[in-house]
Amino acid sequence: MTDISTQLQSMREQYDQEPLRRSSLHMCPFSQFATWLNDAVSLKVYDPNACSLSTVDDQNGPVARAVLLKGIENGRFIFYTNQNSRKAKHLTSNPKACIHFPWFSLQRQVLVTGEVSKVEDSQAEEYFRSRPLLSQLGAWASSQSEELDSRETLEKSFLEAKEKYGEHPPKPPHWGGYYLLPNSIEFWQGGPNRLHDRFLYENLQGDWCIRRLNP
Ligand SMILES: Cc1cc2nc3c(=O)[nH]c(=O)nc-3n(C[C@H](O)[C@H](O)[C@H](O)COP(=O)(O)O)c2cc1C
Repeated sequence: MTDISTQLQSMREQYDQEPLRRSSLHMCPFSQFATWLNDAVSLKVYDPNACSLSTVDDQNGPVARAVLLKGIENGRFIFYTNQNSRKAKHLTSNPKACIHFPWFSLQRQVLVTGEVSKVEDSQAEEYFRSRPLLSQLGAWASSQSEELDSRETLEKSFLEAKEKYGEHPPKPPHWGGYYLLPNSIEFWQGGPNRLHDRFLYENLQGDWCIRRLNP
């Protein structure tokens, strides 16, 4: 066995934080999510609003990458991106998606599955304007997911955007947000002896039903 495999086989953490019990669950998964997100913030999880977004291509090939959760409104999770990107192409051909919050330092994870739709342009504009200027310019500079010949080309493109738009870049037409409307939200809390706590909230015709799952 290689050294790295030996190391990997011996890597093992004990899960020893407070358990998650049915009696302490909120009936509403968004309240439960807000409680856990607040814990992640107050316990200083790095990038607490970062999640992995999984999509599938038109051959059903899955791809995951990180995005930042930027809002929860009317029962929908919101993230922003380039709408010409690979993920956007996937979501156009198949709007089903999953986001995964990896709050490993709290021995927790949350999985949200559902379907996406586009955020209205006016709302995307409002959020775009709230971003730091250099991030706004970055959105113009990058043709996200397309091949890039060099770092210099990207930096040149950034400087060109800066020159062209100055202090007030408009929102690029290809930049916007997605709402993920969940049909399920699962909360996982690590437990001793791999006897973890898992609760699955499923939306059944408008009502959230909660089931405990085997770990
Ligand atoms: C912590 C973290 C947060 C990120 N947040 C975003 C985001 O909010 N929006 C985005 O488009 N890309 C974000 N990215 C970059 C994406 O993970 C990804 O590389 C990019 O969106 C291109 O993905 P695609 O080619 O699959 O479309 C983030 C990366 C990391 C590591």
